Amino acid sequence: MTNRSRFLLLVLLVFCLNSVSCLESVEGFVGGIIILPCIYDQPLPAEVNAFWRDKNDLSVLDINKSSPDYNFQGETYRGRVSSFTDKYKNGNFSILMTNLQKDDTGRYECYVKTVSYRKIVDLTVSDKPAVTKTDRPSSGAAGLKELPLVVLSALCLLLC
Ligand SMILES: *[C@@H]1O[C@H](CO)[C@@H](O)[C@H](O)[C@H]1NC(C)=O
Ligand SMILES: *[C@@H]1O[C@H](CO)[C@@H](O)[C@H](O)[C@H]1NC(C)=O
Repeated sequence: MTNRSRFLLLVLLVFCLNSVSCLESVEGFVGGIIILPCIYDQPLPAEVNAFWRDKNDLSVLDINKSSPDYNFQGETYRGRVSSFTDKYKNGNFSILMTNLQKDDTGRYECYVKTVSYRKIVDLTVSDKPAVTKTDRPSSGAAGLKELPLVVLSALCLLLC
């Protein structure tokens, strides 16, 4: 094992042990949309309560008895967050956030209370990149550069 891979493994372990479940990072652009994933892949009861919270413990979306409940939703998320009600039964509690703002950057937690499952998602919102540059190639160099990250993510999933 090279020093580099030993180092990567250490980073990975710290990374994994640090959070209740593995972190997932997603990236969006100002004004754009993003899906924050939250998947529970085991059987679920018919009625589920789940809560999305942001870095300030503000409600992003509550799912109350398998229906979205907007009563306690933080002001900044009004009209910008939706979920996929037909997917709840498959354990898919992902949310779609629209009109992204820089302030949306931060950690989000999906807590499926019914089964005590926690999913942490780190969102980064940055300025939309200039469109003048040539589109990145769909394969080749760009793909290779992301390989370590893919391997890391896979390891992370295995460990958790
Ligand atoms: C779920 O909805 C009911 C009825 O609207 C409400 O009384 C209750 O407080 C809600 N529970 C949670 C955990 O939000
Ligand atoms: C969860 O649902 C969303 C919205 O339909 C979809 O984009 C996503 O791929 C689903 N995730 C899984 C793992 O099925």
